[in-house]
Amino acid sequence: MKHIISTEQFLDKKTLDAIFSLSGKMELLDKKNAVPQNLKGKIMACVFYEPSTRTRFSFESAMHKLGGSVITTENAAQFSSAIKGETLEDSTKIISGYSDIIILRHPVKGAALVASNISSVPVINAGDGAGEHPTQALLDIYTIKKELGDIDGIEITLMGDLLYGRTVHSLIRLLALYKVKINLVSPAQLKLPAEYKNYLNGKNIQFRELADIRKILEASDVLYVTRIQKERFSDQKQYEKLKDSYRIDKNVLRQMKSNAIIMHPLPRVNEIAPETDNDKRAAYFRQAKNGVYVRMALLQMVLSER
Ligand code: NCD
Repeated sequence: MKHIISTEQFLDKKTLDAIFSLSGKMELLDKKNAVPQNLKGKIMACVFYEPSTRTRFSFESAMHKLGGSVITTENAAQFSSAIKGETLEDSTKIISGYSDIIILRHPVKGAALVASNISSVPVINAGDGAGEHPTQALLDIYTIKKELGDIDGIEITLMGDLLYGRTVHSLIRLLALYKVKINLVSPAQLKLPAEYKNYLNGKNIQFRELADIRKILEASDVLYVTRIQKERFSDQKQYEKLKDSYRIDKNVLRQMKSNAIIMHPLPRVNEIAPETDNDKRAAYFRQAKNGVYVRMALLQMVLSER
């Protein structure tokens, strides 16, 4: 595991189990204030050409906890030489000379792969446009395991913007390693791209597409809600039309299983009402916290192999 670009790289449960086992250890050590300073002397560069709260802060927090250092630009599009016309390739070549690992978020699908082919140090894809967000998917699976105990046998509903939502794209491939049933709920204009449906078919994973959540609420063990990805729409009128397609609120909660969980990669806009937050099934803030431990495990694994 040098670069982490796509969840296609994680083709067996053994690798995932190793990541989750180390994530669990990191969580325990952190609670005891006893994280070993294994990454002392290593430098992580965070290069974000798109906004981020959870991904960047949790990666930075993870690196600090492990004793490493961080160099960062929170708005690379404005504050790096990109604004002067420097290419991603040139910036990557330079930054890889200043750091031991690069965490990259970029608006163009495939950007992380391009950077990884040039970088002399590992590149972790922290979101490439409407492409993928593999570390989010890893923390999502870690969260389901922690909350429900097992993934095999669950029915999971992925809802919202399945066309542009990169966290769903990455998660689909990991879910296909387990025995799951998947419901894909989205407006007709925001359906999951064929590439991912073909992937599920190839792995014999049972799935169905629906526009209405009511039909699947009673059966879902996990309701994975996503934001309609405003920044990916070329026509903002179309976004306005679709932005409030779904809303999870007290009415929806009443129809769900008592032991189901609600997840969301966050940020949310209107798709989950704040009144939902106090319900014990609301797992999204716990999910976000897990990001630190999973990213600690990933940094440790990628950097100690070098
Ligand atoms: C997601 C992203 O950036 O793809 N956020 C995150 O990293 N937790 C989801 C989103 O922006 O809707």
